[in-house]
Amino acid sequence: MYPILVKEDLAPVTKLMIIETPEVARKAKAGQFVIVRDCEEGERIPLTIADFDGQAGTVTIIFQEVGKSTMHLGRLRAGDSLCTFTGPLGRPSEIEEYGTVLCVGGGVGIAPIFPIARALREAGNRVISVIGARNKDLLFWEEKMRSVSDELIVCTDDGSYGRKALVTVPMKEVLEQRNDVSRIWAIGPAIMMKFCSLTAKPFDVPIIVSLNSIMVDGTGMCGACRVEVGGRTRFVCVDGPEFDGREVDWDQLLARQRIYLPEEKLAREKFEQECCKGH
Ligand code: FAD
Ligand code: FES
Ligand code: MG
Repeated sequence: MYPILVKEDLAPVTKLMIIETPEVARKAKAGQFVIVRDCEEGERIPLTIADFDGQAGTVTIIFQEVGKSTMHLGRLRAGDSLCTFTGPLGRPSEIEEYGTVLCVGGGVGIAPIFPIARALREAGNRVISVIGARNKDLLFWEEKMRSVSDELIVCTDDGSYGRKALVTVPMKEVLEQRNDVSRIWAIGPAIMMKFCSLTAKPFDVPIIVSLNSIMVDGTGMCGACRVEVGGRTRFVCVDGPEFDGREVDWDQLLARQRIYLPEEKLAREKFEQECCKGH
């Protein structure tokens, strides 16, 4: 069992949990993910490692309640335990001294961009970060991102905080104003990563994205997470989750993410009804 040491509501549907898991914490690197289950009957939920502390033996996860399993997970509190916490999975981010790098985090993607920005800064890079969300309530970790960035631009889609813009707007401006950005990381919803990749293309700068395809086993056995990258079939769980966004077949990924929508809607409605009955 994996005890939840801290549980925090970052926004009404965005939760943070710090989990006691010394073995995962010791091995974790920026860019990797875990698969969690909150009970024996629970679905496997892949979540990116938002932070880790090898000495304290803890890993931080941040998740949005979007359906049955994440809503069920969100009901747990500090003192409860997770049933499984498998990881670290996937290949770590390729952290090197590139010079100037741009880190873009959108919505819940701010969580996984944080350890990457921190590792890039520690490796001697100049880190320019852009974080954004639909509105002020969905933004989090501004100060944490500031602490690992040389420059931080904050925006919201509706202008309720920071600059009123989608993250692609300041991203394009930075690329136009400076010719020394040698690598970009962009993490967020697939549609955001698609448009960040299209924005980066004319500037001929590699853009690393972290793909969130549907996963089952997370070990390269089931094929659920397959995507086309550069015309080749790749498994996100073992070949990724990071790929050059300019080579990803985004339309295929977006379509595959929606394969089980009717079943997911049904499961969510049933869960909400059962919860209502319980109160
Ligand atoms: P459902 O109603 O079942 O599904 C809602 C949507 O979530 C689906 O339409 C589908 O696109 C996606 N989804 C459903 N099941 C899975 C699955 N088994 N694997 C992947 N996606 C699924 N979310 C976060 O909030 N924070 C994170 O840090 C984060 N990191 C991720 C890292 C990776 C490598 C992957 C693959 C996904 C990550 N996700 C993250 C997405 C998260 O796993 C899904 O939101 C979650 O599994 C949805 O489960 P549900 O039952 O609550 O929702
Ligand atoms: Fe099964 Fe990737 S999740 S192969
Ligand atoms: Mg589900």
